Order: sequence, then C-alpha cells, then structure tokens
Amino acid sequence: MAENNQKQGFFASILSLPNDNPKKTIIVATLLCLVCSILVSTSAVVLKPLQIANKEADIKKNILAVTGLLTEGADVNAIFEQFEVKVVDLETGEYADIDVASYDQYKAAKDPQQNVELTAEQDIASIGRRAKLASIYLLKDGDSISQVVLPIHGYGLWSTLYGFIAFEGDFNTIKGLQFYAHAETPGLGGEVDNPKWRQQWQGKKAFNDDGELKIEVIRGHVDFKVAGSEHKVDGLSGATLTSRGVSNLVNYWLGDHGFGPYLKHMNKAEK
Ligand SMILES: Cc1cc2nc3c(=O)[nH]c(=O)nc-3n(C[C@H](O)[C@H](O)[C@H](O)COP(=O)(O)O)c2cc1C
Repeated sequence: MAENNQKQGFFASILSLPNDNPKKTIIVATLLCLVCSILVSTSAVVLKPLQIANKEADIKKNILAVTGLLTEGADVNAIFEQFEVKVVDLETGEYADIDVASYDQYKAAKDPQQNVELTAEQDIASIGRRAKLASIYLLKDGDSISQVVLPIHGYGLWSTLYGFIAFEGDFNTIKGLQFYAHAETPGLGGEVDNPKWRQQWQGKKAFNDDGELKIEVIRGHVDFKVAGSEHKVDGLSGATLTSRGVSNLVNYWLGDHGFGPYLKHMNKAEK
C-alpha cells in the first residue's frame, strides 16, 4: 500500500512538473519509447506466422500462374494440392531424399554446409552462390508429368529477380515464366511482369534437337522467318540490361550448373 502510494507519488510529482522541465521531458520520452517498442515487438511476433502464411500463399499463387492454372477467385490451396513437391540434387539431377515441406532453398543458399560458391565463369546470373538442392513442383496427369515448375533467380539491373519457369512434360517446351519479386523500374525493367511479354515465352523451346541450351532474350524483336526463332524472346525496349539479366538467369538455371542435369535426366526418362 505504502509502495503503491510512493509510485503514484512519483508519477504525480513528475506530471506536476512544468512541460519544459528537462527531467519531465526525459522521463516522458523514455516511457513513450518503452511503450512503443513493446507494441512494435509484440506485433512483429504476433504477425510473424501470418506473414509466413501470406508468403507461402503468394508462392503457390505464382506457381499456379506460371502453369496457367490460376483463375479469378480460384482456391489456390486446393489447386496447389495437385502438385507434387520434390527436391532435386542439382549436381546429379536426381531427387534428394529429404523432407520437402521444411526445405527452403533460399535459406540453404546462405549456409556454407548446404551451398556451393560459384566461380566468376559459372556465375552468369550474378548470384554468388546457390543451394546444392532445389525444390521443384510437378503437375501430373495420371502417371506422366504434364508440367514441371522450376525456381529461378538472378540479377537484372537494380535487383535480384525471383521467379519460376514452367515446362511441359517434354522438359523442353516452355509453358510460362513469372517473376514474383524484383525491384526493376516500373515501365522499363518492370515490364518483365507485362502479360504480353510473358506470353511470348509460352511454346518456346529451351534446347535444340542436339540438346544444346539455346533460349535467349534478344535485343529488339524476334524475326520469325529466321531459323532458331523458337528459342528467342523479344528484349524489353529501354531495358536492355534487365532483358540481358533475365536471359542470363534463365541460361544459368537451365544450364549445366543449374537444372541442366535434372532436365536431361528427365528428358531421357520420358522418351
Ligand atoms: C531512372 C532510370 C531507370 C532505369 N531502369 C532500368 C531498368 O529497370 N532496366 C533496364 O534495363 N534499364 C533501365 N534503365 C535504362 C538503363 O540505364 C539503360 O540505359 C538501358 O538498359 C539501355 O537499354 P536500351 O538500349 O534498350 O535503351 C533506366 C534508366 C533510368 C534513367
């Protein structure tokens, strides 16, 4: 009781001080900071699971979008159930026997035990390092694979672009390309999100008949009369550097140091 009165007495004596008193200013400011920091840290902790769930939902939405399964008002979680998630060992191209649900390749890429550093020659996507294992998403039609979605990322002009590329069951015909995170300039490099530009990827062949990786984003427009146009996509006008970045990152991830061994392995298995 006496202690309570003492506390009340302390606060009452502070509040009774004039507003320009330095002691009152310091104590009020300290209390305000304390209350605000408690509020901020509590909301960060409480909202964390919601943030993670939203991020996961966004990834699923993008996977559906790149495969052409996303429709207005679609139940994303229900449609995503159709996908089988696998983890690929990028060096061997074989599936890895790990818990796919808890594997995060972007976290793994930061762990020296789980990543590989890239040499300057290998690192055409300017990512520095990558995880040894990567998550992929298979869409099945009965026993056969109708589509496969691969995560890709690499540097554009201002930022690292994160996205997905989807292939048809031949592991060569591109079904779609979609980025879900980047900071390229809207109207210039940001046109990677333009549905018209993305549409061009559909039906393009990543590899030629000899199995050589040929896909590229060119400068200017594709001339369909010229041989090899099935491997070429228009560059984004006024955004040559972002276009080159996209071309490089796609080539990295489909190449020998990315999903190349997996794609070759699956291509043979399907034939
Ligand atoms: C404010 C500003 C933002 C830019 N943003 C991009 C961009 O996001 N991607 C890009 O490739 N070029 C961007 N550029 C243009 C590049 O600096 C460079 O000029 C361009 O990539 C050359 O492409 P072009 O040969 O097609 O004009 C930007 C330029 C300015 C001034």
